Amino acid sequence: MKKVIITGVSGFLGEMLLQTAPVATELWGIYHTNKVMAKNVNLIAFDLTNFSLVEQFIYQIKPDAIIHAAALSKPNTCELLPESSFAINVQASEYLATLAAEYQIPFLFTSTDLVFDGKNAPYKEEDASYPICVYGEHKLIAEKNILTIYPQAIVARLPLMYGIPNRVSNFFKDWQIQLKTGQPITAFIDEYRTAAHGLDVAKGIWLLLQQQQSGIWHLGGRERMSRHEFALQMATYLGCSRKLVIPTQQKDVLMPAARPADVSLDSSKAFALGYAPQMLANFFKA
Ligand SMILES: NC(=O)c1ccc[n+]([C@@H]2O[C@H](COP(=O)([O-])OP(=O)(O)OC[C@H]3O[C@@H](n4cnc5c(N)ncnc54)[C@H](OP(=O)(O)O)[C@@H]3O)[C@@H](O)[C@H]2O)c1
Repeated sequence: MKKVIITGVSGFLGEMLLQTAPVATELWGIYHTNKVMAKNVNLIAFDLTNFSLVEQFIYQIKPDAIIHAAALSKPNTCELLPESSFAINVQASEYLATLAAEYQIPFLFTSTDLVFDGKNAPYKEEDASYPICVYGEHKLIAEKNILTIYPQAIVARLPLMYGIPNRVSNFFKDWQIQLKTGQPITAFIDEYRTAAHGLDVAKGIWLLLQQQQSGIWHLGGRERMSRHEFALQMATYLGCSRKLVIPTQQKDVLMPAARPADVSLDSSKAFALGYAPQMLANFFKA
């Protein structure tokens, strides 16, 4: 892969993909509204729902592969703006897959553990998926349509990701700041995830592309934890009081999008391939 296009380069995963890209790869990053300053990538801003711009760009660059990490990625926003979610999460994703099929180049779509309803975890790739929010529904529609359009495409279902990005904010960065400054944080005792470090997930994505895989892959972490257990571990490793972590339940927080209880992923297929997400403890020891 000499020349790779990364969509969503201004997002959390985009930053992680830039940091882990194989050397000597010519990178082209597409962002939309948030300008990116990065050295190892050629940057361009446009809206991926504008198909003529997308087509022109792919035609001009003639990439060897496309990693599609752009999305409306917040479930609550998708629930409130389903049309916007459908445009970027489904239609733009399908269009990119169509172009990748036409050019016969590897295409990796970033999906989510939220395609599952959370009632039968841990989930393997072939398990039935019944999303309970618009974001999960749209990602599942995109997955199915992409694999119909282009069966050689890769669908990487990603878990909750942690890590400290430079540009964007995320729950992990916010919690770390709050804990270190003695502010309490609330965390669900009844919401389980197999979180993974964003850099490890990004390495997993490069691995799937380098190994010319296709189909659905789970890139979850190795540890199944509730958000509350996760926060308690963070407090411990940061040397902060565990009393700062206030347990809460999903029913106590009203949100537009329903939240599945347990979407832990069984990622043994990817582990066997060499995907190696670290444990949370290692992040703090490093
Ligand atoms: N973060 C997680 O824990 C997590 C978990 C599971 C799956 N995922 C999936 O992983 C992928 C990356 O997530 P992320 O956390 O990096 O998301 P993010 O931080 O919210 O970034 C989203 C990216 O998409 C771009 N984008 C949105 N609408 C666009 C449009 N119409 N045209 C062009 N670009 C557009 C944004 O550009 P601007 O910011 O420049 O507007 C941004 O670069 C997504 O597919 C997401 O669904 C993420």
